[in-house]
Amino acid sequence: MNSPSFDQVAACADIVRSKWDCVPRVGVVLGTGLGGFVDEMQIEATFERGDLPHFPPATAMSHRGRLVCGRVGSLPIVVMEGRFHVYEGHPLDQVTLPVRLMRALGIELLILSNASGGLNPEFHTGDIVVLTDHINLMGLNPLIGPNDDRFGPRFPDISETYSPHWRETALNVASRAGLSLQQGVYVAVTGPNYETKAEIRFFRMAGGDVIGMSTVPEALVAAHAGLPVLAFSVVTNECLAATTVPVTGEDVVAVANEAGTRLRHLLLGVLAEFERAAIARTKADS
Ligand code: HPA
Repeated sequence: MNSPSFDQVAACADIVRSKWDCVPRVGVVLGTGLGGFVDEMQIEATFERGDLPHFPPATAMSHRGRLVCGRVGSLPIVVMEGRFHVYEGHPLDQVTLPVRLMRALGIELLILSNASGGLNPEFHTGDIVVLTDHINLMGLNPLIGPNDDRFGPRFPDISETYSPHWRETALNVASRAGLSLQQGVYVAVTGPNYETKAEIRFFRMAGGDVIGMSTVPEALVAAHAGLPVLAFSVVTNECLAATTVPVTGEDVVAVANEAGTRLRHLLLGVLAEFERAAIARTKADS
């Protein structure tokens, strides 16, 4: 069974609501090395992995795997500090449970972040990329199995999974802050190994700009639910068939940590724009 049952998600949501009486507007999943973002929040409730039923233990390097609820400014948000990966052996129902939970709590925008290898020769180590699209080469899909229409339709249209509106907002925030922000297509593989040179040539030929081991299962369940996605990728290593150098998990975490400060800035800017738009809508409605 790929999909968490509706009742499992509802049970998690009840536990969160029993401690945090608030409807989050935005959900954020923090990838490798990017967990420091929670320092920007006024934290109101936290849930360790063991506090929520059906959540797996997190084992990935630098991934804490806790759910943090609180505010940035006055905007209520819910954050997964770390995520669950397919390469850890977790089934896709557990990998995607945090996003389904965030949706059940009421989020209107999902922001994902990850570390990736740069396939595009114009991308360099440390670059931040906003995703325009993805190619799912995991050979897995969290929507396989009986469809529960309460999550979304049997055959969802995913042609605009990555919201053009929020991508444009992120590009504007970056440009105002003088931060460089690339755009590109994410190729998803399961890992845990990095790629062979032949695979790198193939993924580049297929149209990939960055490659990583996460994000797509989460983006698919969001798209299923009609939830807009904004996704950022930090290029932690250059993945070029001709010149690639051996990469280690420690290198990846070190670069992601360094880029974390810039990504934090971008996330705060996008959340401020979200809040501004929400306030303007409320004023227009009253
Ligand atoms: N390949 C796949 N996943 C990754 C990489 C990579 O080169 N770098 C960081 N995550």
